[in-house]
Amino acid sequence: MNEKDMGADLENVLITKEEIDAKLAETAAKIDAEYADKDLLIVGVLKGAVMVMADLARTLSTPVTMDWMAVSSYGAGTQSSGVVRILKDLDTDIQDRHVLIVEDIIDSGLTLSWLLSNLGSRRPASLRVFTLLRKPEAAKVPIDVDWVGFDIPNEFVVGYGLDYAEKYRNLPFVGTLAPHVYGG
Ligand code: XMP
Ligand code: MG
Repeated sequence: MNEKDMGADLENVLITKEEIDAKLAETAAKIDAEYADKDLLIVGVLKGAVMVMADLARTLSTPVTMDWMAVSSYGAGTQSSGVVRILKDLDTDIQDRHVLIVEDIIDSGLTLSWLLSNLGSRRPASLRVFTLLRKPEAAKVPIDVDWVGFDIPNEFVVGYGLDYAEKYRNLPFVGTLAPHVYGG
């Protein structure tokens, strides 16, 4: 599917595939340098981070192991509440491991804040975060993120793993939805 085919549903292409690829190459070089002498476990948060995990992992030169978590955030509508339930836990014991959480997007920050304290309590050797996208205007809790791909406006975005009602995850770029898609 290309940008033209999706034109009717999308309002704007916010970040192109080329921009994502370039950013991942730039970030992977920094992560490679940081973990040059360490065994790295990257942890993707399902489902949104599937694309960024797959592409980042293939861009890194450092050998990594990969694991996944699925969490659901209780809350009204599209607002995150910070009360998080684990739907799928890690298969890996992360005690004494160097762990990098790979996220698609940080919105309020509540989900990641919970995740950091949950994984932190398992006593990893180190725990860091890479997020492809971040909405600085939506932050409700301060979070120390080690690597950020793109800071974006406080709008609902889809594509490259991100969905609206489970659709649009397979778009190779990040875009905003046209109002009629919401039913407006
Ligand atoms: P919080 O607010 O806890 O949100 O940082 C984290 C999770 O909410 C989802 N989310 C989005 N999903 N477009 C999406 O498709 C968005 O603009 C968006 N904002 C937040 C996402 O699952 C994220 O991990
Ligand atoms: Mg997510």
